[in-house]
Amino acid sequence: MEILCKKYHILTYGCQMNIHESEKIAGILESMGYVYSESENDADVIVFNTCCIRENAEQKAEGNIGALKQLKKKNKNLIIAVCGCMTQQKGKADALIKKFPFIDIVFGTHNLENFKSLLILKSAQKKAVISVLDKEGEIIEGTPKKRTSFPNAWVNINYGCNNFCTYCIVPYVRGRERSRKAEDIVNECRQLIKDGYKEITLLGQNVNSYGKDLNKEDFSDLLEQVASIDGKFRLRFMTNHPKDLSPKLIETIKNNPKICHSIHLPVQSGSDRILKLMNRHYTREDYFNKVEMLKNGISDIAITTDVMVGFPTEDEGDFNDTFDLMKKVGFSGAFIFIYSKREGTPAAKMDGQVDEKIATERIMKLLEFQNEFNRNQSLKYVGKTIEILCEGYDEKKGKYLGRDEYGRMAYFDGEKDDIGKFIDVKIISSGGISLFGEKV
Ligand code: SAH
Ligand code: SF4
Ligand code: F3S
Repeated sequence: MEILCKKYHILTYGCQMNIHESEKIAGILESMGYVYSESENDADVIVFNTCCIRENAEQKAEGNIGALKQLKKKNKNLIIAVCGCMTQQKGKADALIKKFPFIDIVFGTHNLENFKSLLILKSAQKKAVISVLDKEGEIIEGTPKKRTSFPNAWVNINYGCNNFCTYCIVPYVRGRERSRKAEDIVNECRQLIKDGYKEITLLGQNVNSYGKDLNKEDFSDLLEQVASIDGKFRLRFMTNHPKDLSPKLIETIKNNPKICHSIHLPVQSGSDRILKLMNRHYTREDYFNKVEMLKNGISDIAITTDVMVGFPTEDEGDFNDTFDLMKKVGFSGAFIFIYSKREGTPAAKMDGQVDEKIATERIMKLLEFQNEFNRNQSLKYVGKTIEILCEGYDEKKGKYLGRDEYGRMAYFDGEKDDIGKFIDVKIISSGGISLFGEKV
């Protein structure tokens, strides 16, 4: 096929999973001869990799797709493709084409690997190409990747989710849980370390259920295998479901120095009644016990979380339980969200949807608390020397930046050569969650 268009631009919304999938889309495009363009203005292919976890994620993507109408008028050869979780919702692909008739290709999360053939198909036909599969297929290995977050590399370990938390759209748009073979994962990681990557983050909606469908290695075994690859690097993983966090995993983290002492353990709510309605399969007490188990096993573990306010029927008492849990645990970081009604999920049909004003007041209280908590934690770093992995340069701050093993971000005066290196930084001051220091 003769390819006339040579530049591409990708806009990514949503989680790390999507960021990594955009790396695969970029890999496919580059294998076809396209080169990346910083700007969408001179791109010949623009891909929107969308998210639908909350309504505002969808609105953001739709707003940006809408804004492309002018660009499409200027460049008749421009190809606009929309993919990702948003497109997997029932009837969404057709609705998107109806709303934005200038879209050329819509594809789903289950057939990203086919993007090349969809592009070829589109070049041969005038009408839009829609290819969204209802069901996940076999895991396809070997898709080229254009990695964009050196010195960190994302590695998928399992796809999909079987948990069906009642508020969540992910199981409907990502399909059932399926694990990659350990051998494929370990080989990918080994190659990454050979290529100079210094941090690997294993990705899954619920990494703790890795391997349940394979009946071979479980998640701890897999971690152990990856951690035993030669070379100095950090190993991270996300996300963990509290119900599946096992003593074996804690032992594995403890026994393998390459595994960071940092864990993301979304709690969602501190109210037993709400946790039950959410179908989370643990109680507030269970959560405290898991935290205790973690802290007893690994005394310096940093625990981060996701919290939601405004789930249907959440009252002041439920909210206070969540607030209280956050105070008691003392999270190193928390992503706090207002519940967003997702069509097709059980929670969308529940009575007692919470007024937006009340939910906003609740989220403000939690944010205020967590910000203050972060500030105080940062202050404790001042005067200490930490080992960070330099990730890049922050244009706005005019400084290089990197994280310590607990995920804390530190800024310092460095040089281009520092990127990808482990560097000792003495912390001089702190601001909010960020730390500022100098190389020692
Ligand atoms: N699989 C991961 C993360 C899923 S999405 C996990 O289970 O932890 C990331 C976060 O988005 C969730 O932890 C939850 O806090 C939030 N979230 C999911 N659905 C939501 C909804 N309908 N409204 C608001 N927040 C939501
Ligand atoms: Fe969504 Fe729950 Fe699955 Fe996480 S575990 S992706 S919150 S259904
Ligand atoms: Fe991630 Fe959003 Fe999909 S959070 S899995 S991109 S719905």
